[in-house]
This record gives sequence, structure tokens and C-alpha cells, in this order.
Amino acid sequence: MKKTAVVLFLAMTMAFAGCGEKDDASTSNSNSSNTQDNAELEGNGSDTQSEDNSNEDAAQGSGVLADGILNVGTNAEFPPFEFVGDDGEPAGFDIALIEAIAEKLGVDVQVENMEFDSLVASIGSKIDVAIAGMTVTEERKNMVDFSDEYYEAVQYIIVPSDSEIASAADLEGKNIGVQLGTTGDFIVEEIKDASAAQYNKAVDAVNDLRNGRVDAVIIDKNPAQVFGEQFKDEVKLFDGESPEFGFEKEYYAIALPKGDEELAKSINDALAELKADGTFDELVSQYIGN
Ligand code: ARG
Repeated sequence: MKKTAVVLFLAMTMAFAGCGEKDDASTSNSNSSNTQDNAELEGNGSDTQSEDNSNEDAAQGSGVLADGILNVGTNAEFPPFEFVGDDGEPAGFDIALIEAIAEKLGVDVQVENMEFDSLVASIGSKIDVAIAGMTVTEERKNMVDFSDEYYEAVQYIIVPSDSEIASAADLEGKNIGVQLGTTGDFIVEEIKDASAAQYNKAVDAVNDLRNGRVDAVIIDKNPAQVFGEQFKDEVKLFDGESPEFGFEKEYYAIALPKGDEELAKSINDALAELKADGTFDELVSQYIGN
């Protein structure tokens, strides 16, 4: 009992005394005086850190949160980040993450399952934010802001087990299945003479690969691994980051209404806390593994 009190007291003293001194990447002590706001990610980047570390006034300020509900758009066709759970509701890593963030902000989450391609345009009207394994891209940044990045990804290539495709050059002139409006879709645009077969659901692209209607599917790593496992006798995977393909790394972030810095700060602070307190890693191992 006494010991606890002493420890607590020490912790408090340190919190006051050390205000603003500690500068670890993942600090979560409360330093509510103005740390400069570098929550906004303007560069491209692998900078996944939020340096802001106050959560005190998270919930109340932002207009979006004033009704106590965070309306979240997703596209639950992207396991393990989002899929339709046994109860018919969206589930997965992203859903658990946004729920944990909302809990920190003291609001409830309402999830809207919609087409991936309409998420960005719906922010600010139908939905407040979108979490959907969404890659930060310059084009999207013209329409929305992004939270701090929370996950690194890259596109994978799924081909039939007996396919001869083994490099980017082999994809030229091919019919390639993608989910409409995704970065995989954008990559196919760049491949010489290739045509994109665009699907609203990634699994339909994979099924058409199994049926021989497309030559390859380009989709993010983790969903590719899920599908690769599900159909392991029929398909094989290539890592797009391999020298044979040379695709660039991508980073997922939560898409936010443009210019709502208060909301961005609240969400980034909550995200930083979840990283610091281990919740984020728990969700990774629960939903994504290793
Ligand atoms: N990371 C890719 C992109 O941003 C694919 C995301 C697809 N997500 C989904 N929930 N269907 O374009």
C-alpha cells in the first residue's frame, strides 16, 4: 500500500518536473502546453510517429465529435483489416483500432460499410472519417487529410500456381484483377498494355483468377496472404517489394476531413497512446499476426 503510494507520488513528481523534457518517440505523458503540431503529414514518408502527447481535451472540442458519435466508413472486403464478421457486422484490425481510438475520445463508433471507391468522397457528408487499410497518396491528399500512419504495406501479386508470371515485365499486356480505386488499380494503369479488371470486392477478383478470367491479381500484402492461404492449392504469391517487381512501400492511415486539425490531433494523440500502452501491438497480434 505504502509502496504504491510512493511510486505514484514519484511518478507524479516526475511528470511535473519532467514536463516537456522526455522526448522518446512514444511518450504519452500529459504535456498539454503547446507542443508544435506536427500531426499533419505533409511529406510522403515513413514517419509514423506522433510527437503530440496530450489527450486531456480530446472529446469535446471537435464539431465532428460533438454528437458523441464517430461515423466511420470502411469497406469490409479486406481481411484481416476489415471483413464482415459472423454477426454480419464489419470486424477486423481497423475496426478494433478505431473503436479503441473512439474509446479514448469518449465517443461511440458507428460503422458504415461502403464501396472502397466512394469512401474518400463521402468524408464530411455521409461519414466523418474512413479506416480501410487506406494508403496515403498524394491524390487522396487533395481531398482529405490523413492521420499519422499506422501500418506499412506493399502490393502483392497473386497468380495461379502454374502461372509463368514472375516479374513486373511478365505483367505487361496481361489482364489483371484489382479492387476498384485501390493502389493496386493505380499500379496496373502504369503497366504497359495491361488491362485492369476492376471489382468492388477483392474476393471476386481472386475468384476470377481461380476461374482463369484474369491472369493475376494485385492487392495489398496482408489480404493477399489471407487469400493465398485460403486457396493455397490454386494460387501462389509474389512480394511486390522484391526486385522482380520493385513496387514501392505504402502506408495506411485514417482518412480525415480536410482542415479539421482538432480532430486530427485528437485521433493522432489517441493513436500514439494506444501505441505507447501496448494496445496497438495487441491488436496487431490478434488480427494480423507476427
Ligand atoms: N491500400 C489500398 C488502397 O488504399 C487498398 C485498400 C483497400 N481497402 C479496403 N478496405 N477494401 O488503395
